[in-house]
Amino acid sequence: MIWILLGPPGSGKGTQAKRIQSEKGIPQLSTGDMLRSAIQAGTELGRKAKSLMDQGSLVPDEVVVGLIKERTLLPDCKPGFILDGFPRTIPQAEALDRLFQETGRTIDRAVLFQMDDSELVARLSGRRTCVKCGSMFHIYSQPTQKEGICDKCGAQVVQRDDDQIEVIQKRLKVYHSQTEPLVGYYEAKGKLARINASQTPSKVEASLKQLI
Ligand code: AP5
Repeated sequence: MIWILLGPPGSGKGTQAKRIQSEKGIPQLSTGDMLRSAIQAGTELGRKAKSLMDQGSLVPDEVVVGLIKERTLLPDCKPGFILDGFPRTIPQAEALDRLFQETGRTIDRAVLFQMDDSELVARLSGRRTCVKCGSMFHIYSQPTQKEGICDKCGAQVVQRDDDQIEVIQKRLKVYHSQTEPLVGYYEAKGKLARINASQTPSKVEASLKQLI
């Protein structure tokens, strides 16, 4: 099973990818998480990516394509994987098609998480993420039991640097101009499915299960 989760920032791709990962036992490949790990590790790639991510811009195609190429060749990807936040531009989608042609794999579905921009701003500005285990919370819809402390592992929960209002607005602009064209790309290939991402997380999960 190879799925692409497509949709604007904050539409719940990461939340649902983690749920599918634990239910189906196939890995979530999030280019955002990979880049944040490189930042934490202080690598050259991480340093270059950080300034772009903090402004809400995309990291160059060749960088993320390289990350995905390497990652999909690891043994845990054999039974399938969920692509979360990749591809994000037409050149990335074309590079993925070429990679799959070489490796004899096919995309089963590209699922579009549909939601209005105004709701997305509220979701992202209230998101809090655990620095240790990556669990996600929301100050209103899913608060931690103890303020600032992860319910799962007890580490600190923080706001992502790119979840500041001005950066969120820029990320939404970038989504509409550079990523939204992928909707037509996958529709033309007969791979696109749409879900209403403004439902509760459990209802979104149920919609995804119907597609599986
Ligand atoms: P990335 O980390 O991929 O961020 P994103 O796509 O902007 O998506 P988010 O993680 O912000 O949102 P999400 O849809 O996963 O929602 P979530 O589940 O977290 O990318 C960050 C940056 O890295 C990019 O800006 C770019 O610079 C770079 N980058 C990454 N990939 C790249 C690529 N391929 N090419 C170039 N550059 C790349 O949920 C959000 C919040 O809502 C949480 O608080 C959650 O608890 C809550 N929530 C989730 N679902 C629901 C629900 N159903 N109801 C209520 N609340 C909900």
